[in-house]
Amino acid sequence: MTEIDLAELLTSRRTIHQFRPEHPPVELIEQALELARWVPNHKKTEPWRFYWLGPEAQQAIIDLNCAMLVEMKGEKRAQEKRKSWEEKPGWIVVTAPYNEDLFRQQEDYASCCCAIQNLSLFLWAHDIGVKWTSGPVTENPQMLSLIGADPEREYCVGLLWYGYPDFVPQQTRKPLNEVLVRVP
Ligand SMILES: Cc1cc2nc3c(=O)[nH]c(=O)nc-3n(C[C@H](O)[C@H](O)[C@H](O)COP(=O)(O)O)c2cc1C
Repeated sequence: MTEIDLAELLTSRRTIHQFRPEHPPVELIEQALELARWVPNHKKTEPWRFYWLGPEAQQAIIDLNCAMLVEMKGEKRAQEKRKSWEEKPGWIVVTAPYNEDLFRQQEDYASCCCAIQNLSLFLWAHDIGVKWTSGPVTENPQMLSLIGADPEREYCVGLLWYGYPDFVPQQTRKPLNEVLVRVP
């Protein structure tokens, strides 16, 4: 890959909210998960766990999310979310471990975020979009139990949906000078 290709990959990747229904090839997702792990990782703790969800687990999370939404925002909103979540083609949950050493926990979280980005960029290079989502359901320990994770040991870094984009949004970033401090 040339430098130009890499810059284009980094800037063109977008969070995808609407997917086409086709499922990307399983082999590509496996490769993305393999490559996700080749990120900087202090102490080489390899903290990530990837839960690649089948239809049963997806449905269980959708049901849990709807039950929570009915309480929080009412039946109509819950059903809208059910429909939109049922349309997400692929689902992966990434978790990181709790640690009594909060510095280590933070560093492990950082590596898991890098892993998600590796995965997202590799998939984007194959025209597959990802949405990293978080919210009340990903904060709920019950969600972890539903997918066979241990809420005593680990927490959710992100719920990732993936698939072929139906629509690619535009994005902007602030000018670099607003966030860059040149220290003499
Ligand atoms: C930790 C994390 C959590 C996120 N959670 C959500 C979310 O719950 N809903 C959502 O629409 N986007 C979520 N996003 C995606 C951001 O909204 C998105 O990255 C941002 O709008 C910039 O767009 P881009 O990824 O296309 O550059 C999340 C991103 C991160 C890193």
